[in-house]
Amino acid sequence: MLLSDNLYVTRIEQSAGEMGKLDGKVALITGAGSGIGRATALLFAEEGAKVAVADRAPAGGQETARMIKDSGGEAIFIKADVSKAADVERMVKTTADTYGRIDILYNHAGINSPIAPIAELTEEDWDLVLNTNLKSVFLGTKYTIPVMLKQGGGIIINTASIMGMCAQTYISPYCASKAGIILFTKATSVEYSKHNIRANCICPGFITTPMTEPWLPSVQMDHTPPGKAGQPENIAKAALYLASDDSAYVTGSSLVVDGGYSAEWAVPLKESPAQG
Ligand SMILES: NC(=O)c1ccc[n+]([C@@H]2O[C@H](COP(=O)([O-])OP(=O)(O)OC[C@H]3O[C@@H](n4cnc5c(N)ncnc54)[C@H](O)[C@@H]3O)[C@@H](O)[C@H]2O)c1
Repeated sequence: MLLSDNLYVTRIEQSAGEMGKLDGKVALITGAGSGIGRATALLFAEEGAKVAVADRAPAGGQETARMIKDSGGEAIFIKADVSKAADVERMVKTTADTYGRIDILYNHAGINSPIAPIAELTEEDWDLVLNTNLKSVFLGTKYTIPVMLKQGGGIIINTASIMGMCAQTYISPYCASKAGIILFTKATSVEYSKHNIRANCICPGFITTPMTEPWLPSVQMDHTPPGKAGQPENIAKAALYLASDDSAYVTGSSLVVDGGYSAEWAVPLKESPAQG
């Protein structure tokens, strides 16, 4: 459990009875059993949403749902591997059958890439990352859109990455998957805006979660304005903005939340301009 989880549970209890930004809404969040997905599930619940917590890992997913329910919120856990069409179709159907609608779909689940030069990557490496990170977004969107059309609209949020905007060496499948999400998000927006469906993605920078903890200390962060990695709540708050009416005129966009990391083009200079 992240330290900040307790903070959110306390806030869900405190906010019971107050107006939330997502009162009456139903949110389906994939990868909600850990890290950013869990922080978002807790924040959405705090803001009044009923949350379908989807994850392939039952322990984490059940724990997130329990945390929400223990603090007076409403949640169900759905075990699903988002890279498999049958699982995603069942995940969407279970959510719609349980709560009657899906107002917010947050396609968040994803994995890191095997670290290797392109010539040494296998077809299996490529398929694993692309299926988990990108095909999953297509599947989640494909099966949820009919529900949203039937109810008159909805909101789709996808998790991309700053690695979908700039290449990092030796994780080409990850970069390709995240770049694909940015354009798939725009395509979703273009096709469905007229049906009152908004689609946006978030491009996180380096965020402290179980996914990044093993190697995050080796990333040089001192040139970002905050000088440190972000927390899951930083992304959860961006997701809340995109999920609420505060972003009513925002669709097809990619929201960078990286503490300014990608703002600097880190070109190693042979000599500083001041010396030249
Ligand atoms: N943490 C970061 O710095 C960072 C930066 C940019 C983007 N992201 C993106 O955020 C997402 C991961 O979130 P996190 O950092 O909180 O990591 P995390 O490892 O804490 O959580 C990922 C969750 O996704 C689940 N998951 C993985 N594969 C799945 C599958 N096939 N089906 C269903 N669930 C699956 C895992 O069980 C886990 O609960 C990914 O899409 C990742 O690319 C993270």
